[in-house]
Amino acid sequence: MIEVKHISKDFVTPKKYPGLKGAVKGLFSNEKIVKTAVDDISFEIQKGEIVGYIGSNGAGKSTTIKMMTGILSPTRGECLVDGIDPNKRRKENAQNIGVVFGQRTQLWWDLPLSESFTVLKEIYNVSDSTYAERMEFLNRVLEMQDFFDRPVRTLSLGQRMRADLGAALLHNPKVLYLDEPTIGLDLIVKDNIREAIKEINERYQTTVVLTTHDIGDIEELCNRIIVIDEGKKIYDGSLAALKETYGTKRRVSMEIRQPEKVAKLHLASLLNVREEECSVNYEKESNTLSVTFDKHKIQVPQLLTAVMSVMDIKDVQIQETELSQIVKEIYSHGIMEG
Ligand SMILES: Nc1ncnc2c1ncn2[C@@H]1O[C@H](COP(=O)(O)OP(=O)(O)OP(=O)(O)O)[C@@H](O)[C@H]1O
Ligand SMILES: [Mg+2]
Repeated sequence: MIEVKHISKDFVTPKKYPGLKGAVKGLFSNEKIVKTAVDDISFEIQKGEIVGYIGSNGAGKSTTIKMMTGILSPTRGECLVDGIDPNKRRKENAQNIGVVFGQRTQLWWDLPLSESFTVLKEIYNVSDSTYAERMEFLNRVLEMQDFFDRPVRTLSLGQRMRADLGAALLHNPKVLYLDEPTIGLDLIVKDNIREAIKEINERYQTTVVLTTHDIGDIEELCNRIIVIDEGKKIYDGSLAALKETYGTKRRVSMEIRQPEKVAKLHLASLLNVREEECSVNYEKESNTLSVTFDKHKIQVPQLLTAVMSVMDIKDVQIQETELSQIVKEIYSHGIMEG
């Protein structure tokens, strides 16, 4: 359904100089800075998939979504959605896709929600009978009837998000793009939105691409995730495989007796591993030494023996690194290079 082939996006901005003098200098200079927000990304998405597109702030997620929806044209590479170049054939593409940007609404702010839907019905050429049928379905999954006659600006964030999702789905698009659809919502509304996305996907085989910072969205919805970091794709696969590969990390936390000895503890050399294979962290307040390592490389008894050869241990805790932690790690260091 979606083919993304080696797309890149460069943003060119004028070079800025500091201070007032600099601002004046900037006016007359034509030095430019090129920022590659998306760097040679390729993937394919099949009909009916729900794919999570994740990465830290500024990784290039929204920029990729904008190229897939046709809002931006790629600087290099090509993107096809249902066989169409979304940027070159915008009208046809618009019939195929629905878009929700969680950060801002696509609806008419001062109009009652119902009128936004009437306008969209005309724009997308939805017949009266299809409209009635669609509205019945959308009202069931998104429960919009309570606020359907109110101006959009008076809606709560959760109501507005449901309304936006409904509006994006009125013409039954083949592909639904959601850019942070649950941002700022409370747990109950998040859950409603997730259920609605699931039901739409199951019933209509709608292909869904969503960006999110919410691990819950990924766990509930996505059978596949694509992780990007600084504009590059660093992982493409199932969440399960991600857990399998990166879930072998363990963390042992030890409450110790002699904090002054922490500096003398050279754990990597004691265990005969490389520095990066056991990362040590010491927290002063709780007197706790935490070591994170791969369970296939280092055994817990071995680790404890090594630490105890230098200092006494008062208490020990062994933890699995949780998915949220793994994903946090992806977010903070991009551990999945290559
Ligand atoms: N119109 C633009 N002009 C210049 N730079 C831009 C523009 N749009 C985005 N960028 C830059 O491109 C990079 C990627 O931005 P993008 O919005 O795609 O990130 P993101 O992954 O969606 O981040 P977030 O999680 O914060 O939403 C950022 O460094 C951003 O500042
Ligand atoms: Mg974004």
